[in-house]
Amino acid sequence: MEKKEWLPPGFEYRAGELWLEEVSLESLARKFGTPCYVYSAGAIRAAYRRYQAGFAGASLDLSLCYAVKANSNLEILRLLGGAGAGADVVSAGELYRAISAGIPAGKIVFAGVGKTQAEIDYALERNIRAFNLESAGELALLDRRAQALDKTGVGVSLRFNPDVEVHTHAYITTGKKSNKFGLPAATIRQLSQEINRSPALKLRGLQMHIGSQLLQIEPVVAAFEKLLDLAAEVEALTGQALEYLDIGGGLGASYSGEIPPRPADLALALAAAMAKRVVTYPLLAEPGRYLVAEAGSLLTEVLYLKGGDEGETNFAIVDAGMNDLLRPALYQASHKIVPLKVPDSPDHRLYEVVGPVCETGDWLGHGISLAGLRGGEHLAILSAGAYGFAMASNYNSRPRPPEILVDGPDCRLIRRRETFEDLVAAEINL
Ligand code: LLP
Repeated sequence: MEKKEWLPPGFEYRAGELWLEEVSLESLARKFGTPCYVYSAGAIRAAYRRYQAGFAGASLDLSLCYAVKANSNLEILRLLGGAGAGADVVSAGELYRAISAGIPAGKIVFAGVGKTQAEIDYALERNIRAFNLESAGELALLDRRAQALDKTGVGVSLRFNPDVEVHTHAYITTGKKSNKFGLPAATIRQLSQEINRSPALKLRGLQMHIGSQLLQIEPVVAAFEKLLDLAAEVEALTGQALEYLDIGGGLGASYSGEIPPRPADLALALAAAMAKRVVTYPLLAEPGRYLVAEAGSLLTEVLYLKGGDEGETNFAIVDAGMNDLLRPALYQASHKIVPLKVPDSPDHRLYEVVGPVCETGDWLGHGISLAGLRGGEHLAILSAGAYGFAMASNYNSRPRPPEILVDGPDCRLIRRRETFEDLVAAEINL
């Protein structure tokens, strides 16, 4: 602990205790109990500003639509919406959240391969900026419903599958031909003309999203080059200029000190690709993880230590489980885990940090080096702000943890811990 180790922005050890902004996490864990999610408002605002500034620095016109799926807490949406962000939603539920948080419908795009008629109607009634469409069937349904509801000028963007290789976990690769997402160029050429003929719809843009936790920008740029070629073809076929190109999200975050690409580097590369073709388009981007992952942490208490005798594995059994943070179990994701109090013992051991859920896959960290670990001690599982609480469940009938927002010296409960009554609320008084 004495040597300088990587911590996400906003986290630092002061006099042997881990702080987030101006709040001691040990005192926060005692006040709110564990497990609990804690987020830094300052870190989210700073990431938002870095993204915006990166694109402005490359003289690009950017609409930033935060990918709500990464962390859909209303207060996080209010924070980003207040900073100027729009939203990228993938369900009517997310649209409901974004609008409830005050994000104007005109700044919201609706993505996803399987929108239902009820979801399409809900979004049509609210006059969102655009539907990102991914199949001919979906286009036909949207057209029918838009006409039935007397809507005109309904914004549409077609999702392109550029068939590029990306180096990330197979479950979060989305831009290969074999993935369920997007459409090939030939279909987009054809559908863009159908949209042109519709009295209700207006083709505003083309969209792509090739994967998440991207640590290199080259595949994004390669896909964008293909998108630019397709945009030129679509404009020639329809005789209409596109309002924007949507580059999706995907920029990676740091989980244990790796260095993800900067938005400014991505922006410069995209600007260069446009300059090469002597074209310029306003861009729309849908970052999720980049804005919130490093800003959040899951605090947990060590319940028991077991093993450690000759040849035995050391287990640290903690009070957070795979229902609270699914990423390690689902993607073999590795999150750095650190103590809230620097131990006085130099005796480091390697631990399997596991939860209480009745599954062997219920682990939060493999081979985590911790010194002088004792029951009752608190740990922070870092970079858990994206796809952490958002993917939490009630598996094993465990109430989901509270969420707390730290802003300078303030800390505020932004979602309370669920109760046993919450667990059964939807099953009683039917
Ligand atoms: N746009 C679209 C169309 C997407 O599908 C996604 C993420 C995003 C934007 C935002 O991507 P981001 O900037 O956050 O990488 N649960 C996984 C990640 C799933 C991402 C799904 N799509 C995880 O925990 O790693």
